[in-house]
Amino acid sequence: MSEDVGDGWSASAAAWIVEQGEDGDYGRRCVLDAPMRARIEGRGFRRALDVGCGEGRFCRIMQRAGIRTTGIDPTDALLARAKELDPDGDYRLGRAETMEVDGNFDLVVSYLSLIDMPDLAAAIAKMAAALRPGGTLLIVNLTSFNTAGQPDGWTRDGEGVARFSIDHYMDERPIWVSWSGIRVQNWHRPLSTYMTLLLDQGLQLRLFVEPQPTAGDPARIASHRRVPYFHIMEWQKPA
Ligand SMILES: C[S@@+](CC[C@H](N)C(=O)[O-])C[C@H]1O[C@@H](n2cnc3c(N)ncnc32)[C@H](O)[C@@H]1O
Repeated sequence: MSEDVGDGWSASAAAWIVEQGEDGDYGRRCVLDAPMRARIEGRGFRRALDVGCGEGRFCRIMQRAGIRTTGIDPTDALLARAKELDPDGDYRLGRAETMEVDGNFDLVVSYLSLIDMPDLAAAIAKMAAALRPGGTLLIVNLTSFNTAGQPDGWTRDGEGVARFSIDHYMDERPIWVSWSGIRVQNWHRPLSTYMTLLLDQGLQLRLFVEPQPTAGDPARIASHRRVPYFHIMEWQKPA
């Protein structure tokens, strides 16, 4: 059994599963899946670890791409759903910070899960240790200026114009965010915190992109252009 660490994930699991559906929520469907698939397909990856895999959607995508995948997540109800949808898959209950895995993965993925990890330094050290020499760490995360604007996000200024306010950017802190019946704790951290911890592991940055929506409501596309939600980074462990 996982302990309930009070981050909201156990209580939000049912709503999260509904929100993801078969094809993922808006961000995954219309912004992230295409560039993330482009990073995993046809590159010879044979063994992947998905850290914070949730209900396992990206594990299933990697399995379909022929990559033998292990998913790890601390939320029982999400892992149960992952096993239900992929009974032959390898899903393990655990936290990134304390996971016990071998160091032979070609590919380690964090798909919007770094923001959920309370001890980022320990989590990144474990992810780096899970990679074989020459292996790839693929991360998609919320941008730090986006998390610095939460939980209020978009608000109206005195003239009724929508604005996104950022404050206390340099102060690392937990933030509670709610949408669609989900209420979870995320962490805001400055971008330099992430970059420094990854560099301290000796990893080398190979890719940094800020993907934009390719479909959906034009107003939503415009809002992503004003305040991008996501970035994708790829880091490599030296061979
Ligand atoms: C935003 S969800 C992303 C799930 C999945 N990667 C996806 O994209 O659908 C964040 C996930 O991180 C998990 N999580 C929370 N704390 C964690 C930790 N310390 N280590 C690993 N995963 C964690 C949650 O249980 C949740 O499944």
